[in-house]
Amino acid sequence: MKILANDGISQSGIKALENSGFEVITTKVAQEQVANFINKNDISVLLVRSATKVRKDIIDACPSIKIIGRGGVGMDNIDVDYAKSKGIHIINTPASSSESVAELVIAHLFTGVRFLHDSNRNMPLEGDTNFEGLKKAYANGIELRGKTLGIIGMGRIGKATAKIAIGLGMKVIYSDTHIPKKDIKIPFFDGQSITISLVSENINDLFAKADFITLHVPVQDDYVIGEKELEMMKDGVGIVNCARGGAIDEVALVKALDNGKVLFAGLDVYENEPNPEITILMNPKISLTPHIGAATEEAQDRIGTELAHQIIGFFNKSLVN
Ligand SMILES: NC(=O)c1ccc[n+]([C@@H]2O[C@H](COP(=O)([O-])OP(=O)(O)OC[C@H]3O[C@@H](n4cnc5c(N)ncnc54)[C@H](O)[C@@H]3O)[C@@H](O)[C@H]2O)c1
Repeated sequence: MKILANDGISQSGIKALENSGFEVITTKVAQEQVANFINKNDISVLLVRSATKVRKDIIDACPSIKIIGRGGVGMDNIDVDYAKSKGIHIINTPASSSESVAELVIAHLFTGVRFLHDSNRNMPLEGDTNFEGLKKAYANGIELRGKTLGIIGMGRIGKATAKIAIGLGMKVIYSDTHIPKKDIKIPFFDGQSITISLVSENINDLFAKADFITLHVPVQDDYVIGEKELEMMKDGVGIVNCARGGAIDEVALVKALDNGKVLFAGLDVYENEPNPEITILMNPKISLTPHIGAATEEAQDRIGTELAHQIIGFFNKSLVN
């Protein structure tokens, strides 16, 4: 049975699948050729990450597909309901990358408070001629310890982020539309652990109290942070979005960065992916990454093996039935 992993899959995933008799094809097929390729090669399983779109046209054109798998969380690139209505089994790996995304959030926070994003842009240009000038420009860093982190969305990644932030000595508050309270268990290397209990706050209170705000919500119909919400925040707030483009109004964000309301932003996701606005890309107050939240070797390994186990389980079950 053949599997097309069009956006790649880890070696561990390939190995697990091959050991169970599957053939895994990792050729990157261009979007407009995907349906053709599937039909020519009699593909049974189509695996994607966020790049390949699996819309109605592909689903209709490819009757051989039994499973569509998303390595990761967000399924907005797949017409899930339509695929299900056609009897296609949909799988994803929602928990595999939470810790990786959380570490990236903290990386953006550390970057922002010490101006690493701007320093890394200017040191290669002026580091030898204007060392003292740059030293002065980046002299007013602040520490994360003791500051308040406001987490919007206390699901898997929000919780993973809370664990690290608490470990750093930050005060963590959160707002979640569905999770009124959350116990955050923080395990240590020696087997000990502590548990901190948190209660969801009204989002406007979070805006007013947080020194830094990070978003961990699914795709939204509307902005979670727009002009009105930015106004409610503390002056000099730092904002990180490693969730989904469209959770923050980028025009309002740039305005707030320009007028000093927001000290810095850390973005991994963009309203207009994969062509983020130039005003975002060129802004010296934004720490930028190209949607790499889940892109650690460890997460990719977990994603690959989890997909493999789900695929093997599915076909074993259908053999039994
Ligand atoms: N940057 C990356 O590479 C990357 C990788 C993985 C996931 N993500 C994204 O991260 C986001 C969070 O993922 P997760 O696994 O933690 O999801 P999750 O479903 O576990 O948690 C989302 C939480 O947000 C809450 N929520 C929804 N709308 C809200 C709102 N308007 N205000 C407050 N809370 C709200 C939900 O109740 C839920 O508890 C998703 O958008 C996902 O696509 C990004």
